[in-house]
Amino acid sequence: MASDWAWSVPLSDLAVDEEILRAASGAVGSGWWSMGPRVARFEEAFSRFLGAEHAVAVASGTAALHLSLLACGCGPGDEVILPSLNFVAAASAVRHTGATPVFCDVIGKRDLNLDPQDVDAAAGPQTKAILVLHYGGAPCDMDAVLEVAARRGLVVIEDAAHAPGAIHGGRACGTLGTAGCFSFFSNKNLPIGEGGMVVTGDKGVADRVRLLRSHGMTTLTWDRHRGHAAGYDVLASGFNYRMDEIRAAIGLVQLPRLGLANAARARLAARYREHLDGVAGLTVPFAGGAPHRDSAHHLAVVVLPRGSDRERLREALAARRIQTSVHYPPIHRFSAYEASGARPLPRTNELGERLLTLPLFPHMTEEQVDEVADALVAAVDRPLGGARRAALRAAG
Ligand SMILES: Cc1ncc(COP(=O)(O)O)c(C=O)c1O
Repeated sequence: MASDWAWSVPLSDLAVDEEILRAASGAVGSGWWSMGPRVARFEEAFSRFLGAEHAVAVASGTAALHLSLLACGCGPGDEVILPSLNFVAAASAVRHTGATPVFCDVIGKRDLNLDPQDVDAAAGPQTKAILVLHYGGAPCDMDAVLEVAARRGLVVIEDAAHAPGAIHGGRACGTLGTAGCFSFFSNKNLPIGEGGMVVTGDKGVADRVRLLRSHGMTTLTWDRHRGHAAGYDVLASGFNYRMDEIRAAIGLVQLPRLGLANAARARLAARYREHLDGVAGLTVPFAGGAPHRDSAHHLAVVVLPRGSDRERLREALAARRIQTSVHYPPIHRFSAYEASGARPLPRTNELGERLLTLPLFPHMTEEQVDEVADALVAAVDRPLGGARRAALRAAG
């Protein structure tokens, strides 16, 4: 275990070993830390892994979303449809382009992905793009989304932050829309600390993302260092959204491990499912899977019985030193987004109160899954009185 926090079962955990340490220290020792050859190698390896034509490494998943939206032409006056059941980064990225986020509902407790019919209902004359999420690594119904997009002339961008290695109809998630956005944040399936990637089959989009990630400059410091260029022009107002060499070096070690790590996640998720789906009023979303769709199993989520006191259940698990979370409090209910909540989102509103995320990481043991599942079922079955809760808190 890399972490030594007080949790006996943390929500996620990093496995750190000699190979990762060697890769990071090799990059540090090279004397070239900012974006350079390792970043280029990581981009090549990632695009090959996904079967994408272009991959552009950036500083974070949020940067990937922001640049993809800009490169696809989103801006002031446009609307972008996205599920409210997502991390807020997606909506902020839309707003940072000057466009307006328009939230759509999810399918329901068995499928937490966006509802393509509600996407269609949300679309109007200002709609420019659909920003889908593959929730928890489970591919959303891209056939239906792409049909709506084709019929209405919309761009599709994939928030694939949870979904590296997920497959939809034989193709990698992230490669089905115009652009796919990945996050390599520490708790993700492919963790490098902070980082992201845009993948696309559209050379124009790739070139635009590449330009904007580094101030709109026509050459990089690395090009000038190698003597390949002496000066530069600036073609657009861009950003510093670059990835550095140390993170790319870690990424080059993590990428070949992703398949095994995702397989371990799948086994653990199946074990949770056996323990929990249909037990004590609990539902495990995506439990039946979907034909031709393979999840990356980023999250282990349960839908609690209607009327559950989620905070009490989280306290009961915390008393056993089991960390939990909520993915996600719906975006339209945050203060900054209240004004965007004009559309009715009944399923998101209801599920937003009932979702609970349990620990899941590739080196989690089966015993830990059993421990978490037992603790949850016990807590759901036996509501805790105030005195017992206080005693558990004191013991924890
Ligand atoms: C679904 C989703 N989208 C976007 C992001 C943003 O990625 P990052 O934290 O790398 O900026 C995250 C990360 O937490 C995420 O989970």
